[in-house]
Amino acid sequence: MSKSYKIAVMPGDGTGPEVTAEAVKVLKAAADRFNFKVELTEFDFGGERYKRTGETLPDSAIEELRKFDAILLGAIGHPDVAPGILEKGILLKARFELDQYINLRPVKLYPGVETPLKDKGPEDIDYVVVRENTGDLYTGTGGFTMKGTPNEVAVQSAVYTRFQVDRCLRYAFEYARKHGKKARGKGKNNTLALCGKTNVLTYVYDLWERAFHEMGKKEYPDIVREYYHVDATCMWMVKNPEWFDVIVTGNMFGDIITDLGAITQGGMGIAAGGNLNPEGVSMFEPIGGSAPKYTGKGVINPLAAICAGQMLLAALGEESAAEQVEQAVMFVTANKIKSMQAGKMGYSTSEVGDLVTEKVAE
Ligand code: IPM
Ligand code: MN
Repeated sequence: MSKSYKIAVMPGDGTGPEVTAEAVKVLKAAADRFNFKVELTEFDFGGERYKRTGETLPDSAIEELRKFDAILLGAIGHPDVAPGILEKGILLKARFELDQYINLRPVKLYPGVETPLKDKGPEDIDYVVVRENTGDLYTGTGGFTMKGTPNEVAVQSAVYTRFQVDRCLRYAFEYARKHGKKARGKGKNNTLALCGKTNVLTYVYDLWERAFHEMGKKEYPDIVREYYHVDATCMWMVKNPEWFDVIVTGNMFGDIITDLGAITQGGMGIAAGGNLNPEGVSMFEPIGGSAPKYTGKGVINPLAAICAGQMLLAALGEESAAEQVEQAVMFVTANKIKSMQAGKMGYSTSEVGDLVTEKVAE
């Protein structure tokens, strides 16, 4: 009997549903080809539902989502809803409540994709950022006093526990061992770089740095350890991206450097990520937003959502299917679509989905 996976699909807002539809097409093709089943259940959480009902992602939905093998998310963000409400109420709530403590964001330039980095190609831009996904400035620790007065005080603290840091580091070391450049036959070593700011954030990144070296020395002597300050990381991501293999960092720095990484791999049309709870249910998403101005036009690039689907397959353990989807995406970027940008692909959203689907089924 073939395996069957229960997948929750949250298309969300704006162009989210369009790109999600293409990712689903590809998932189904991969399932047919590799002889497993995907059982899809759609949820309408997002801006429209919020406007209608005042509900973001209720606790009952979190309980419901726990029963799935994985979640595929389109995009969250609605022009009529104030910034922060949907982000906190849906995206961050899912990440926190489902304890998706890793945000895995590959920075990989596919063949044929234009990068703004001069003289750099697919062999240079091929690394992964492991972003801690539950702590840091994102915990909402802080508040206002004397709000609205000239003496107003606002505090928002970067919070990390040793437990959070250790579990993230362990994931990153393991990832480097299994998928680093040496493991892939692409380099002499598997390397894990900690990205921090030990010269200023002398508490939080001191903790990270001590934990990093302690764990590395004791349990992962085979992994080369490097350290970069976050500002320097940005510089080297542009100047010498080929230096990087696996980067591990806190939530806030990870948020920032992965947008930089995304643009070096062709932008939001192609960049995908996974919010992982290795012991629970993980959620996969294109990194880009809901791009409301393109809604319904059929011009948005679905490859990022398709790549999110590819990561989902890998997380389910369907490695061959994931590999086939990645190969199909690479075929399409190398031979078919002209640009990663919305409206400039030379194909419509669904045509790009069809191109990948055909190649997966081949
Ligand atoms: C991301 C996004 C989110 C984040 C926002 C929308 C809350 O920028 O997934 O990187 O900051 O994590
Ligand atoms: Mn971000």
